Amino acid sequence: MDKLLLIDDEADVQYSFRRIFASPDLQLFTASSGEEGVRAIERVKPDLVISDIRMAGINGLETLRRIRQLDPRLPVILMTAYGTTQTAIEAMKLGAYDYLLKPFDVPKLKELVAKALQAARESRQATALQPMLEAEDYELGVIGRSEAMQGIFKLIGQVAATDATALITGESGTGKELVARAIYQYGRRAERPFLAINCAAIAENLLESELFGHEKGAFTGAAAQRIGKFEQCHGGTLFLDEIGDMSPATQTKILRVLQSGTFERVGGNQTVTVDVRVIAATNKPLEEAVARKEFREDLFYRLNVVRIQMPPLRQRREDIRLLVDYFLRRFAGPGGKPRSIGPGTLEALEGYAWPGNVRELENTLRRAMVVAKGPAILPSDLPLEMVSGAPAAALVPSMPAVRGPEAGSAESTPPPATAQDVPGLAAALFRFARTDSKLKVLPAVERVLIIEALKETSGNQVQAAKLLGITRATLRKRIEKFGIRQELAVN
Ligand SMILES: Nc1ncnc2c1ncn2[C@@H]1O[C@H](COP(=O)(O)OP(=O)(O)OP(=O)(O)O)[C@@H](O)[C@H]1O
Ligand SMILES: [Mg+2]
Repeated sequence: MDKLLLIDDEADVQYSFRRIFASPDLQLFTASSGEEGVRAIERVKPDLVISDIRMAGINGLETLRRIRQLDPRLPVILMTAYGTTQTAIEAMKLGAYDYLLKPFDVPKLKELVAKALQAARESRQATALQPMLEAEDYELGVIGRSEAMQGIFKLIGQVAATDATALITGESGTGKELVARAIYQYGRRAERPFLAINCAAIAENLLESELFGHEKGAFTGAAAQRIGKFEQCHGGTLFLDEIGDMSPATQTKILRVLQSGTFERVGGNQTVTVDVRVIAATNKPLEEAVARKEFREDLFYRLNVVRIQMPPLRQRREDIRLLVDYFLRRFAGPGGKPRSIGPGTLEALEGYAWPGNVRELENTLRRAMVVAKGPAILPSDLPLEMVSGAPAAALVPSMPAVRGPEAGSAESTPPPATAQDVPGLAAALFRFARTDSKLKVLPAVERVLIIEALKETSGNQVQAAKLLGITRATLRKRIEKFGIRQELAVN
């Protein structure tokens, strides 16, 4: 049975709570002041606290602050008749679960209570991830135990020991720059400079001067001589990022410096000799650019001496758990307590396609930490499109309330949904989707439904399409578009 503690000095409010929450699944306790409420926490051990803000004695914010010291996990909902944005912000900053305006709408209140209790249950079940990484894994900062990543580590080791040019390719966010830095750190040139330059971020006419420098008066605006990256990096390592976006003239100059270590500054005729190790990266298929004659073939081969192809995250799902552990620890900082993971959260993360790879995972966790209302990250803290693999309860946290006020809000097994529930379910999805302004709710829901249909039919696409009311061809296209796991769609 769930225990709800109400802190409010108005007898009327206490009375209406008793009526609203008269349910065998819920036990209501009341306190008439903040002080009394804080004292009651130890004795009652509530699952949820709802407190008024304006009260005689300590106010609701101070009550919340004291409750937080006693129990950082306990969800607290604050309510007040005088809503100002400032109190709302202050309340959330202090870690309130939510904020409610009086007079409250009863169905809304019940829904919020059901949601908070559900979150409290999940939070209690949440576990800290077992530490899986060794100290040196953290230092290197390139995380992965999958076979694909083991291969990458070996290559890093081999290349680091040489001065060979390396070309790192792979989708965006797969860790190309990270690997370039690892090669540098482990190499002979670790004591010498490492400079990075993003070739795509610099206007074409400026890139050459950025790389090779220019002489005074080389072009309009060249008021003084300038030393380029190759010269600054003498003896060290230069990381040429997004190498696919370079003009033919610059490509020619790069090829020459790779072959002979020489170049001239823009507008100059003095030959400069440098000793620079080059590591290049691109997320574009360079072979295709070569075929289209946009990228010099000889330069391609010169860069491609050692090729490191970064695997996309969806091809090494076993690393996701490790990366989650790594990022949560890193975000917590040294000595800080990392966030724990609620039931279903890891499964949802492991089931997602990650088109933005590790960067997307990192950003998702960062955002989830902001949205999470307790010390655990729950599936409801993730973008909707990721929650498809998680239990339906996490997706629609307010199912009972959707069915109308007469159904008890703490009902354990809601009756099965009928067609009449569809508008209510849709409304619940929209409420949920509002936590992410960038979320496109329709494709996200489509993906969830497709996965559910495939699970329901054990991956039989013909049956799943029928269930969804679409053709098999459409289903196929969607499976591809959403990157739904192959093992779900068996035929
Ligand atoms: N294996 C990994 N372990 C830990 N962190 C990683 C790993 N791979 C990537 N990251 C992190 O993900 C983010 C993106 O990595 P990085 O910038 O190296 O990707 P990239 O391949 O260069 O992407 P882009 O093509 O978009 O430039 C960084 O914050 C990086 O620290
Ligand atoms: Mg990069």
